Amino acid sequence: MRRANEHGPLLVVGSTGKTGRHVVERLRRLGEDVRPVSRSTSVRFDWFDEATWETAVSGARAAYLVDSQDENAGERMRAFAPFAVERGVERLVLLSARGWDDSGEPELLATENALKDSGAAWTILRPTWFMQGFTEDETLSAPVRAGELRLPCGDGLEPFIDAEDIAEVAAAVLTGGGHQETTYALSGPRALSMGEAVDTIAKATGRAIRYVPVSEEDYVAGLTAEGLPEEQARFVAKLFGWIRDGEDAHLSDGVQRVLGRAPRDFTAFVARAAAAGAWDD
Ligand SMILES: NC(=O)c1ccc[n+]([C@@H]2O[C@H](COP(=O)([O-])OP(=O)(O)OC[C@H]3O[C@@H](n4cnc5c(N)ncnc54)[C@H](OP(=O)(O)O)[C@@H]3O)[C@@H](O)[C@H]2O)c1
Repeated sequence: MRRANEHGPLLVVGSTGKTGRHVVERLRRLGEDVRPVSRSTSVRFDWFDEATWETAVSGARAAYLVDSQDENAGERMRAFAPFAVERGVERLVLLSARGWDDSGEPELLATENALKDSGAAWTILRPTWFMQGFTEDETLSAPVRAGELRLPCGDGLEPFIDAEDIAEVAAAVLTGGGHQETTYALSGPRALSMGEAVDTIAKATGRAIRYVPVSEEDYVAGLTAEGLPEEQARFVAKLFGWIRDGEDAHLSDGVQRVLGRAPRDFTAFVARAAAAGAWDD
């Protein structure tokens, strides 16, 4: 019979990324034994190199999973999740995305489905767009720093979430009970337009920054001119189109349900990021 690793470390896959980094910090603050892994950590883990999996999962009792974020993500999860469960990693927490469910594109749910079929005690986190996109994702942060953000979002609204809230939810789910076979949709406390988001950053930094709504075609042309393959550019434009069309504006209560408090607000995030010099030259 399979034995669970009751006292082993908590594995964090994608530990150097926008959420994983905060998951590691949060778990350490809680006094947990953490094993951070990615392709660049001392314990190396690569979704595409199965020889790295055994050491990564060995003795771990639960795992936070950021998938490989490409067309192979579902197939990789379908191989990895049962591999981990077989070795006693009972609880698997997957970072997914809120929009995938409404996208009408079943392949975007491939990693969620693989996790559910794995026999793990699974929990799925479906966040909205991260506030940290404005500081850590070049698609948004570079134009903001340059003073003009051009996106095909019109006046559409998005309830951006703070990655630190996602991490706090993940840490609670990894260490507490009652979250099995549950999907949590996670959003920030209010929906903002890109114009409002940029104005908030401009006010906090004292920099002149403006948002310019553009057509989807112009946006794709801009990205491909910068060297992005057209298929990827169209996918990014489609995601922004969901914001423009109002499909992502609603709020979700996952943070309240797991943490019993409201999510962090965008203005507080911007104040913190500005003080840390996120948009300085
Ligand atoms: N950004 C948003 O607004 C947003 C909104 C909703 C949902 N999401 C979801 O969030 C996920 C991304 O999470 P994140 O932002 O925390 O991560 P991230 O900042 O994109 O970082 C990716 C992490 O995965 C690691 N990684 C990349 N390729 C790997 C591989 N082949 N094998 C092992 N590790 C690999 C990276 O480290 P190394 O490079 O060192 O390997 C890094 O730690 C995606 O699934 C996305 O759909 C994002």
